[in-house]
Amino acid sequence: MDNKMAIVTGGSRGIGRAIAEELASIGYDLVLLSKNKAKLEETSKEIASRYGRKVTPFPCDLSDMKAIDKFEKFCATNKVIPDVLVNNVGIWAPASTGESSTERYDEIMTTNAKGVFYLTQRLLPVLKKGRAKRIIIISSTWAQDFSLAGGKSESTVYAMSKWALRGWGRMLREEVRGDGISVTIVYPGAVFTDEWEGTKTPKEKFIKPEDIGKVVRAAVEISPGSCIDEVIVNTKVGSLSYD
Ligand SMILES: NC(=O)c1ccc[n+]([C@@H]2O[C@H](COP(=O)([O-])OP(=O)(O)OC[C@H]3O[C@@H](n4cnc5c(N)ncnc54)[C@H](OP(=O)(O)O)[C@@H]3O)[C@@H](O)[C@H]2O)c1
Repeated sequence: MDNKMAIVTGGSRGIGRAIAEELASIGYDLVLLSKNKAKLEETSKEIASRYGRKVTPFPCDLSDMKAIDKFEKFCATNKVIPDVLVNNVGIWAPASTGESSTERYDEIMTTNAKGVFYLTQRLLPVLKKGRAKRIIIISSTWAQDFSLAGGKSESTVYAMSKWALRGWGRMLREEVRGDGISVTIVYPGAVFTDEWEGTKTPKEKFIKPEDIGKVVRAAVEISPGSCIDEVIVNTKVGSLSYD
């Protein structure tokens, strides 16, 4: 029997890396996707040697549909049959309705929503052949709770992209139920990653990336007939500000 295999997007650092490590620790081989080739290769080597798993780095800009097509071809050529797809990739950048440029809007929505949709669509045929048959989507508490905004508006487009994942993920769950595929949507609050570089808020107040890794691990390890549909993971104190 071949090893279990998971694809994790944005797996080179932050939450994606923590998820990759949790899955490697329970015996998953991995294909990791992110843009920065050097960082991706470094992370892949570290995870492979720490957990004794096969970890394949695939540098890929997931906001570029042609790059996603190349990954689809790579999967076909190399007979990659993922048991689990973790759609973790996402970017935050300031963009309100009043102040976002069209370029900034496109960058956020294409990376966080269109690319995630397109990659999943391309991989659905092979996911149907996998064993665990699980899709994980990393959204955000910005798709849950407007009180997080605290009177600020610079996360408007980011929130829009994460609500898109919430709506799409729920419909995808219905679409693929009949194929035995589960869809888990995770909504993290403030997680201490490079996204928060330079903040004055004490690190202890944040969620750890490993916590999201553990949640994803639970969603994957749960018995085959069960599905964790949605999980909100917040800080104990709730909303955190950057400064
Ligand atoms: N941190 C938080 O507080 C928080 C809270 C809620 C939800 N989230 C969500 O959790 C996910 C991970 O966040 P994070 O904080 O771990 O982010 P991060 O530390 O900034 O890491 C982002 C990862 O995504 C990759 N990436 C970014 N743009 C990409 C693209 N166009 N194509 C391919 N890879 C790309 C990065 O690789 P490169 O370095 O190669 O670009 C990196 O591996 C995101 O969807 C984010 O919205 C984060």
